[in-house]
Amino acid sequence: MTFRRTKIVATLGPSSNSPEVLEQLIIAGLDVARLNFSHGTPDEHKARAKLVRELAAKHGRHVALLGDLQGPKIRIAKFACKRIELKVGDPFTFSTSHPLTEGTQEIVGIDYPDLVKDCGVGDELLLDDGRVVMRVDTATADALHCSVLIGGPLSDHKGINRRGGGLTAPALTEKDKADIIHAAEMDLDYLAVSFPRDASDMEYARKLRDESGGTAWLVAKIERAEAVADDETLDGLIRASDAVMVARGDLGVEIGDAELCGIQKKIILHARRHNKAVITATQMMESMIQNPMPTRAEVSDVANAVLDYTDAVMLSAESAAGAYPLEAVQAMARICIGAEKHPTSKASSHRMGTTFERCDESIALAAMYTANHFPGVKAIIALTESGYTPLIMSRIRSSVPIYAFSPHRATQARAAMFRGVYTVPFDPAAMPPEQVSQAAVDELLKRGVVKPGDWVILTKGDSYHTIGGTNGMKILHVGEALV
Ligand code: G6P
Repeated sequence: MTFRRTKIVATLGPSSNSPEVLEQLIIAGLDVARLNFSHGTPDEHKARAKLVRELAAKHGRHVALLGDLQGPKIRIAKFACKRIELKVGDPFTFSTSHPLTEGTQEIVGIDYPDLVKDCGVGDELLLDDGRVVMRVDTATADALHCSVLIGGPLSDHKGINRRGGGLTAPALTEKDKADIIHAAEMDLDYLAVSFPRDASDMEYARKLRDESGGTAWLVAKIERAEAVADDETLDGLIRASDAVMVARGDLGVEIGDAELCGIQKKIILHARRHNKAVITATQMMESMIQNPMPTRAEVSDVANAVLDYTDAVMLSAESAAGAYPLEAVQAMARICIGAEKHPTSKASSHRMGTTFERCDESIALAAMYTANHFPGVKAIIALTESGYTPLIMSRIRSSVPIYAFSPHRATQARAAMFRGVYTVPFDPAAMPPEQVSQAAVDELLKRGVVKPGDWVILTKGDSYHTIGGTNGMKILHVGEALV
């Protein structure tokens, strides 16, 4: 059996809304469906969420739902003629007092007054993910007068970034606050916070999530220059989150593309060290919006993220608005499996020299050490309440599949994003204690994952349904009578 360990997140949108396409994506290996709150109405997202859960259940799969908050993306207003074309050297003005629908070849409105305060003469502004670049020549109380450094088309509502970061908009807008409530109503498994500056933005999001009654794990999108300016801020942000996303679109614009690859590797490494799951996102298969085949550079980009040991790789417009959503998921799945054959994906020297702080983490890591050094071991079973034990296990490189056995739907869905973790619905409390090992191994036999003669590792605690209670590991010989 070939397992794909790296998980696939795909954004849903017009190209993937129909039950037929969605079902195909799930069959092709979709692990996490992303609902982008920047587009669409809450009712549309609710309908998508329901459909994903129904189709996943039909195929006996656990597909997590990730809601992505729009965040304070700063955008220009509209042009009277929708679109202009700028040439190098052209003068151009951003104005907080210009009518919002009356942009011209020389000026456009903006409804974020602090842009003028946050920027000064000499700053570079990047429009539309850096496709157009301008330098601020003079600033007044309500306008920035610029000249164009890199020309190109500019149309309604394109985003603005400042090179080097530093725009002060708070991470959560009024729309985001309303969407946190919608996310709770949809019982989403993950909720991504856009543009957090530091840990405090995540703590605020967590407070709002708790108040809404939601249980979604919070994903920090790392996309501001200040979030990666020093290790202390980055690690603080990671610690305050349940998972992180390397959101390369805005991040690349703010820090410059030359820094991006190194920062990606750093974010993935730091997330894993802090026991958090990590998604690598943006433009991974961009050309597949129009083409059925990825470019070699895209293949290499996905493979590189797999070798960096990301938990998941993500599709954005490719699956939401592209012509080939199914082909994009299939290509990603294929490339992940190929890259996972590389030796660095299989062995781990991670944490060899460190000490453990918790009993369950010690057991989880002992299980991984054993699995990686005892060739007969074909699977690991983690009895889990919250998904924490398999999460810790999956921080270690290995080619042995980790099965999260849990009675809880939310835990099964969440664990679908962890690299190398597969989920099985299972309630150990529903049977006498002496039958648990046999019943668990039987589940893997039934799925064809193991055969008589293989070895399986099983971890659990002394009592059932105790988060953090794992304190034991068994090495079971498949085919023998197990107790
Ligand atoms: C299951 C097992 C318990 C164990 C728990 C760990 O409920 O039956 O024995 O303590 O999982 O859950 P965790 O959320 O810490 O992975």
